[in-house]
Amino acid sequence: MNQPGRIEFHDLHSSRDEFARDVVEGLAKKPASIPPKYFYDAKGSKLFDAITDLPEYYPTRTEIKLLTRHAEEIAQQVGTGSLLVEPGGGSCAKVHILLQGLKPCAYVPMDISRDHLQMAAQELAAQFPWLEIHAACTDFTRQMHLPPTAPTGTRVAFFPGSSIGNFDPVGAVDFLRSIASLVGDQGYLLIGVDLKKDRHLLEAAYDDAAGVTADFNRNLLARINRELTGNFELSQWQHRAFYNEDEGRIEMHLQSRCAQKVTVTGQDFHFAAGESIHTENSYKYSVAEFIELAAQAGFSSRRAWSDEQQLFSVQLFQVEVTR
Ligand code: AVI
Repeated sequence: MNQPGRIEFHDLHSSRDEFARDVVEGLAKKPASIPPKYFYDAKGSKLFDAITDLPEYYPTRTEIKLLTRHAEEIAQQVGTGSLLVEPGGGSCAKVHILLQGLKPCAYVPMDISRDHLQMAAQELAAQFPWLEIHAACTDFTRQMHLPPTAPTGTRVAFFPGSSIGNFDPVGAVDFLRSIASLVGDQGYLLIGVDLKKDRHLLEAAYDDAAGVTADFNRNLLARINRELTGNFELSQWQHRAFYNEDEGRIEMHLQSRCAQKVTVTGQDFHFAAGESIHTENSYKYSVAEFIELAAQAGFSSRRAWSDEQQLFSVQLFQVEVTR
């Protein structure tokens, strides 16, 4: 039997104090909000995986179709032997589509959810025994350092799943800039971008009939209860998701069903009936809008692929050399 590939694990993760501080600050704001990165504890990551299998949630299956269809072309553009980095690559779910063609010298998944990352890296290592994996447990929205032992080579960042949509446009440009400096001159970015479309399709994707997205949203409160001695009564919070056309984004909220007081880490927060906690934005772009956004971060478009229904796009960029 083949030996599994070599895995190194690096814990670069931010602390529980940071979670407590972000939640307390966010709940004190009017309107209240909590950063969406906190959805992804072990339970939240499992719920998110379940979302990706929902009939209404088109992004995952469409992106997989596009990556599979164009894997060869991607490998031709980028070449073999690169260092493949995946910020937020906790489930290593899509990278396997690219590995055979790209033959990277090493793969660096970075994710905030330690258990999820560790399990997924082990599975991938079993599947690709030749692959060197440097798994980094880190909050990639705050820091983007490669583990010190990662080998050199043309750097390719892989950022699938339309996670870029969870940043506001200014934050997205900042994030893309940090990817550009991570991959360096001539480095590549392969990114999944969800496209603007009919609001009914969008809203169904974020408010599915089986209620999995509602559970995912409410798990944020359950996580606060578990980790920050909170006392949210989950049944008193309603999942809301709608398309805000002016902003070009899906908004997710948890709306209070009654007037209530919630205590978190010993601090009280009061909510009126109907008041909500804003938990996520998911921005949608046209291909042209996204190319313009990426250009602000120093990226030149190399290719953009989309499906027949124009639901989703996979786009390849390269850092423009300015010298
Ligand atoms: C991770 N991210 C790209 C998902 C999205 O579509 O914005 C998160 C999600 N939220 C609800 N459903 C999926």
